[in-house]
Amino acid sequence: MKLVSRRNIYLLLGAFVIASCSPKKIELGTSSNKDVIAAMTLKEKAQVLVGNDPGFPRGYPSGFGGADTLFNSEPPVVGQTKQIVPGAAGTTYPIPRLGIPAIVLADGPAGVRIAPQRPDTSKTYYATAFPIETLLACSWDTATVRKVGECMGNEALEYGVDILLAPALNIHRNPLGGRNFEYYSEDPLISGEMAAAMVNGVQSMGVGTSIKHFAANNNETNRMSIDAKIDDKTLHETYLKGFEIAVKKSHPWTVMSAYNKINGVYCSENPDLLDSILRKSWGFDGLVMTDWFAGRDRIKQVIAGNDLLMPGSSYIAEKIAEAVQNGTLDEKLLDRNVDRILNVIKKTPRFNHYTYSETPDLKAHAKIAEQIALEGMVLLKNSDDALPFTNDIKSIAAFGIGTFQTIAVGTGSGNVNRAYTISLNEGLLAQGYNIPEELKGLYEAHVESEKKRVGEKSSYFQPDIMLKEKDWSAADLSKYAQTCDIALFTISRTSGEFADRKIQDDFALTQEEQNMLKKLSKVFHAKNKKLIVVLNVGGVVETASWKLYADAILLAWQPGQEAGTAITQILKGDVSPSGKLSMTFPQKYTDVPSATYFPDASKDPKKVTYTEGLHVGYKYYLAKGIKPSYEFGFGLSYTSFEAKDITVSAKEDGVYDCDVTITNSGNFSGKEVVQLYIKNQEGIVKLKDFAKTNTLNKGESSKINMVLTHDDFTSYNAEKKHWEVQPGSYQIMIGNSCENIWFTKDVELK
Ligand code: BGC
Repeated sequence: MKLVSRRNIYLLLGAFVIASCSPKKIELGTSSNKDVIAAMTLKEKAQVLVGNDPGFPRGYPSGFGGADTLFNSEPPVVGQTKQIVPGAAGTTYPIPRLGIPAIVLADGPAGVRIAPQRPDTSKTYYATAFPIETLLACSWDTATVRKVGECMGNEALEYGVDILLAPALNIHRNPLGGRNFEYYSEDPLISGEMAAAMVNGVQSMGVGTSIKHFAANNNETNRMSIDAKIDDKTLHETYLKGFEIAVKKSHPWTVMSAYNKINGVYCSENPDLLDSILRKSWGFDGLVMTDWFAGRDRIKQVIAGNDLLMPGSSYIAEKIAEAVQNGTLDEKLLDRNVDRILNVIKKTPRFNHYTYSETPDLKAHAKIAEQIALEGMVLLKNSDDALPFTNDIKSIAAFGIGTFQTIAVGTGSGNVNRAYTISLNEGLLAQGYNIPEELKGLYEAHVESEKKRVGEKSSYFQPDIMLKEKDWSAADLSKYAQTCDIALFTISRTSGEFADRKIQDDFALTQEEQNMLKKLSKVFHAKNKKLIVVLNVGGVVETASWKLYADAILLAWQPGQEAGTAITQILKGDVSPSGKLSMTFPQKYTDVPSATYFPDASKDPKKVTYTEGLHVGYKYYLAKGIKPSYEFGFGLSYTSFEAKDITVSAKEDGVYDCDVTITNSGNFSGKEVVQLYIKNQEGIVKLKDFAKTNTLNKGESSKINMVLTHDDFTSYNAEKKHWEVQPGSYQIMIGNSCENIWFTKDVELK
């Protein structure tokens, strides 16, 4: 046996003493957040709070954060984290010595927005462009929306993105809202349910979401500073409700506060909104980030619990640190916010060393994009079964710029850098239809000359400038009416961040579009041939004045990259449309409840008063008895359905079991959406639940059960600042649109 020498014993003892005296390495994950925060310098804490954008060493450009531009400062300490995933919207600030990585945040609502190309490689980084959120909502199909979320989450994960800056769920207060396409609906229940399905889908992949823009960011006009004047009841019941549902049903990792003010206070600086309501009342336990460059007073943002200030600048970090040093900001608040940021970082793939492939299965995701597009398109009109195309339709006189340049999604952060968009023209050709070559050629030439006329837009983020429709002579159209079997006219619209839409030439059709509808209708009807209109739009357009010219109108929305394939399948009858409107299509703009209270960009408004109160969308049209062009919940099918055996039975006071059996009584396979509304004592009708059937073949039935509980009868008492049930009578209504009610039952609540 070998004896341990005295010398070796001394050496061992020495090593033990050194090991036990040397400070323990502090590292995120293995050490507590508390220890990690204690190990940070004040400057580091401040920098963690503001993200890491080296583009703004002197604060934000004017027009964004205002006064910050006046100051000088050093560039950020840690370099180009923006390049971790090129084209992503931003990153947080890393502190490698404490094991804190920079996590990557990328937009957005229709798919992961990152740069598709990189200078050092020929490899591409395309993401799937899913249909816009508005189409998703019109599917009334939360299961498929969840699948879309899973695909987006997977793309985020495999491209190295930790948090997807989506979904967006502001209310469609007015059809002119420039970002309505990024939002779901005029109704908070659909918005909340859709957002929850999306968040659950994305987060099931292990990446986070940021539900946005919290709250009441309902217009783009002066969005960075406009003051939304909203009474408390309306705020809670209409503009916060969707967020509440999403927070409670899906636990998003993060929430993005909105640019605007509500009743005089910037959302990002508002402790009532971000703390009392979001955290204390709804139980949100993630982090709140600002929208990019939002707000004015960074210190107030920190105090309000707006944990992360994006995109960040070292200048702002310095100002925060200074505020602590001069006693105007309590360091404990920095610690609180840093703690929340660290909690989210710990959940991310980047912190957990996930090795991302950069090769998500784009083919499989394209299939889901197509599937949801088929679920969310809405058939608005179908006289004499003009659709689907009969077997003798072979040659299509396809007009409209949108037939050849179909718009997949809107612009700005809601855009997606996709590999392709299948145009309607391509979809029709691929599925066996002919379009006259000459017609195509003339459109191509027209688009070229229009593009030259409008010129380049000033930046990627600006909304695209719309091209003018080609106005054909009746003589030319007659030629096609002779040789083709049917006419098709696509009307397109696009919009995006920074601008609201206009009434003229946007909500209303342009003169050229109106001319085309009249001429096409006349010329083709004279030959006993039909005119089909496809609406390739991101928001509501006027339809009442021209719908008589069309035999059928398919609202295809901006249906994502698989646009042409999906639209053709519907036109052809491979799939019956089953989408229902998640908003009202009014007869005319002046019918819109907020028509005179929506900010008019030309007047440079400082505030917008929500004078219509609770009367947003269908709630208003129903209460005032104003007939819209197409009502909320409306959508036709190629088949017909019967609703039978409808019962509403009380289980206990305020709890009702609602049953209905839906039978496909027509000749096509299809799906129906059952909608459950309650009319309260204020005379306001509110959607409370919905269910979409599976595909029902001819003669097949499906039993739908929905349960109403106490919560469904509550309203917000602004004086007492709580939700309550007013005793008295309510009406339960079941139907397949807010106007087409099959069954009503009056109930008394004690
Ligand atoms: C938009 C946000 C977006 C952010 C980052 C802002 O302009 O309002 O929705 O997430 O930019 O791109």
